[in-house]
Amino acid sequence: MSITRPLRWGRRYVMVRPDHFRIDYAINPYMDPADQPDARRAMAEWIELVATIERLGGTVEVVPQREDAPDMVYAMNLGLAMVLPEGLAASRGHVVMSHMRFAERRMETLTSQPWFERSGRTTSYVGRDGVGAHLEAGDVFAWGDALVAGYGPRTEEMALKHLATELGVRVRGLRITHPAMYHLDLAFCPLDDRRAMVAPGAFDQASAEALLSLVPEPLVLTDDEALSTFCANSIVIGQTVVLPAGSPARVREQLVAWGFEVVEVEVWQFHKAGGSVRCLTNPVDVTVGRDLPSVPGGQVLLPPV
Ligand code: ARG
Repeated sequence: MSITRPLRWGRRYVMVRPDHFRIDYAINPYMDPADQPDARRAMAEWIELVATIERLGGTVEVVPQREDAPDMVYAMNLGLAMVLPEGLAASRGHVVMSHMRFAERRMETLTSQPWFERSGRTTSYVGRDGVGAHLEAGDVFAWGDALVAGYGPRTEEMALKHLATELGVRVRGLRITHPAMYHLDLAFCPLDDRRAMVAPGAFDQASAEALLSLVPEPLVLTDDEALSTFCANSIVIGQTVVLPAGSPARVREQLVAWGFEVVEVEVWQFHKAGGSVRCLTNPVDVTVGRDLPSVPGGQVLLPPV
């Protein structure tokens, strides 16, 4: 058995308090304005998620929710945060702001961008107001020697070039084809430096093979396992995986067999708009030079067509 090392990122999060969580429109297959979340239950679930992260040694910075932005609770999509090597940026970090595919979510940036700036981070944009490439940060994870970035339903291929040059890193693109796994974080979850949950059914064949070849020990999920409870939409704090409640027993058992602690949280209200534990949390401690190499000028690698 090879030695595995825990992820060094995933201890510091930004989250948005669900003061105005509703379903006003449908931009993914789960959303139905006729099936509204219960606001009190949603708040209780969110508070318990924050408490769980803090109990496990993580920290949470809270952004207020705009009243006109019901999906803003899915903080993962606000932007892609990185800590850059010292000298490159004398700041707490840099955030490449998302440029949402759907106009219904674009106003979120009007609040989150100044918030990130006030928090001591620098920010940049790949596009604004529907002009320029779309990027949704739930499509992007540090893994191995690169950022892996899903594109298709939400993020556009052109955004990968922006990410690579602005952050000075390698970006490996993966083409997402499954309409219900519209963000990479519904189909991919890094667990430690060798293991990750992977739902190959989210991707075209070349991208599924490319992702599986990047993960030495994948926990391969069927589409059903990935979709029924969003179990790939989990977070990892050290050796603990925070899974959405109701996740498949097989998945929990494999995680335990690998030596992880498993904690389940109820996030049912948030499943109604198509997001779970990962979507509600945005890690801000991925560090260039530690968690992924610096590549001056950046580099984009795309799957074969
Ligand atoms: N209703 C949101 C949307 O469709 C859900 C976002 C889920 N977030 C995520 N990181 N996968 O945009």
